[in-house]
Amino acid sequence: MSKAAVHVGLDQPLEVRDDIEVAAPKAGELKVRIAASGVCHSDLSVQNGTIPLPPPIVLGHEGAGVIEEVGEGVTGFEVGDHVVLTFVPECGECFFCSRDQGFMCEKAAMLNMGGMLDGTKRLSSGGQDLSVMAGCGTFSEVTVVPSISAVKIDKDVPLKIAALLGCGVQTGVGAAMNTANIRKGDTVAVIGCGGVGLNVIQGARIAGAERIIAVDMVESKLQLAKEFGATDFVNAGEGNPVAAVQALTNGRGADVAFEVIGLGPTIEQAMQMTRGGGETVLVGVPRMDVMLNVNPAFSFIYTAKTVKGCWYGSSNVHREVPKLLELYKSGELKLDELISREITIDDVNGAFDAMKSGEVARSVIVY
Ligand code: APR
Ligand code: ZN
Ligand code: ZN
Repeated sequence: MSKAAVHVGLDQPLEVRDDIEVAAPKAGELKVRIAASGVCHSDLSVQNGTIPLPPPIVLGHEGAGVIEEVGEGVTGFEVGDHVVLTFVPECGECFFCSRDQGFMCEKAAMLNMGGMLDGTKRLSSGGQDLSVMAGCGTFSEVTVVPSISAVKIDKDVPLKIAALLGCGVQTGVGAAMNTANIRKGDTVAVIGCGGVGLNVIQGARIAGAERIIAVDMVESKLQLAKEFGATDFVNAGEGNPVAAVQALTNGRGADVAFEVIGLGPTIEQAMQMTRGGGETVLVGVPRMDVMLNVNPAFSFIYTAKTVKGCWYGSSNVHREVPKLLELYKSGELKLDELISREITIDDVNGAFDAMKSGEVARSVIVY
């Protein structure tokens, strides 16, 4: 039996149940006892329908833990190994993985349906099968994942720190270091300084940006942004952030602007605050009905801007996770500072509330 937080219906609080049956891993799968899971905005986005995944589903896609059972045919993992779970797998064999675009791995589509790679489910409650978010389901004490969704890590890395690599860190740092083309001395703007945006900020710093303009509506987030390397601050609640960024850049705009919230108006702002010839990187996940407006086509062409979609920080997880842990060990990457609160699974709905009010960078469930 496992305890887990289950999304049961649109806009309803997650139900924390302690009767979850966890089946044995099948071929190619691992049973993992989760040690910690971050609570990400994308979890809330499932609850409120922004990301439409049908209930009942165990949420959580940013976690790390210890392997309890290894399915048939799995190589490279043993019981007791520590792993980070990744919400995009890297199968290493498909069209995209073989082209160094693991973040587009073809196996992800199947996992996004809520089951394992064969379409069947391993978690159930009261006789009813439960889906798991993105092949992970880290809001469960114990879960089953395909082995291609796990990356083995050294045992000296605290698991609550490792958990953050599963989504926010990999997405944010990757957006700056992999997706964007930041040049030494660049000025970048980051709209949204939550768990993901703070990582874009530190990624931009490591990539060599000289000025990093943090944009948020919550003053405490701008303070945090400073700790992560931001040099200039715009409170979006106090006037037009596009004008503010232009004023800070001789009227030109930022070399690279990131949107890390997922709202139509802030996506437009990011495109507008990008200088001619610069790059806009869209990281936040919007509702399905949000449109990207590049009209009139003439000005899009004339200003020679590039707009890039960023999925999972353009990461190849087997290379990215060790790289990020090296940066952490060398002191360049701040991870401890991302954890605002450690909570229990019983407090997961409170963590959603804290996120809505913008109080926290990350709440982390510690099991
Ligand atoms: N202008 C500026 N800042 C805003 C605005 C706005 N209009 N609206 C919200 N914000 C800020 C919030 O104050 C908060 O600091 O955006 C931040 C969002 O942070 P989180 O809620 O912590 O979200 P996070 O987990 O960082 O995810 C951001 O990335 O992976 C995706 O699905 C995820 O779309 C989400 C995005
Ligand atoms: Zn996430
Ligand atoms: Zn693949």
